[in-house]
Amino acid sequence: MNFDKNLIEKLAEAENVAVLTGAGVSAESGIKTFRDPDGLWAKLNPDELASIEGFMKNPETVWNWYNERRKVIASAKPNAGHIALAKMETLYKNFALITQNIDRLHQAAGSKNVFELHGNIVENHCLNCHTPYTEEINTDNKELPKCPVCGGKIRPSVVWFGEQLPAKAIMGAEKATCSCQVFFTIGTSSEVYPAASLPYLAKNYGAVVIEINPRETSFSDNADYVLKGTSANVLPELVECIIEAKGNKN
Ligand code: OAD
Repeated sequence: MNFDKNLIEKLAEAENVAVLTGAGVSAESGIKTFRDPDGLWAKLNPDELASIEGFMKNPETVWNWYNERRKVIASAKPNAGHIALAKMETLYKNFALITQNIDRLHQAAGSKNVFELHGNIVENHCLNCHTPYTEEINTDNKELPKCPVCGGKIRPSVVWFGEQLPAKAIMGAEKATCSCQVFFTIGTSSEVYPAASLPYLAKNYGAVVIEINPRETSFSDNADYVLKGTSANVLPELVECIIEAKGNKN
């Protein structure tokens, strides 16, 4: 890909960079996105599977859907996009990786300063007393585990529709967004708020905003640069260009 010279210059000069990622970044690791034509929400109902109301109605159905997702995610490996983002972190004084993904693949690739806006699929806790549930999950056991402290229902520590984002994650994400010179939005449809508000916030605070996505999104028209392509294709090349440009400056 031929990157715009001004863009590479800005990336070489920047000290503070923030990146927002979505399901598209993990697509090339074999994890389905939500809103693509073959995405999870094309066939499944998020109200039933990703809301507290859905969980209260059919806790075992929801738990077992998450068991299936646990299996897919457990066998997934970081792809070239995740690895390039971990490398990008080492190039900057301040770098924040803000993700809507629950699969922990950014951490597996080596990213350090990660803000998980929608929680993660590795941790679980009691719906009733909020105590973390630390027993190993047997993904073949269809029965919903019970809290050893109060007997309450155990749920995955992910954020469902209508729920608050973890305070530390959203506060850290907003701080990084307001103080960065360059902000990336990668592999997200920009449909789900508050995450989708971050690129606008970055723009309002003066950052250059770059979108990486093979398709147009609801944010595309607002981006300063749109790099059309998959994250595993675009990011490794882009990171190499930044390294080269930084080397030329020294
Ligand atoms: P979506 O499924 O809404 O959007 C995925 C985006 O990734 C789309 O814009 C695709 O064009 C793009 N994409 C697909 N393959 C790609 C690739 N290889 N490289 C780069 N981009 C690619 O997923 P999110 O925006 O992450 O929340 O969805 C946000 C939230 O909605 C999720 O965290 C989840 C979901 O419902 C909850 O469940 C609460």
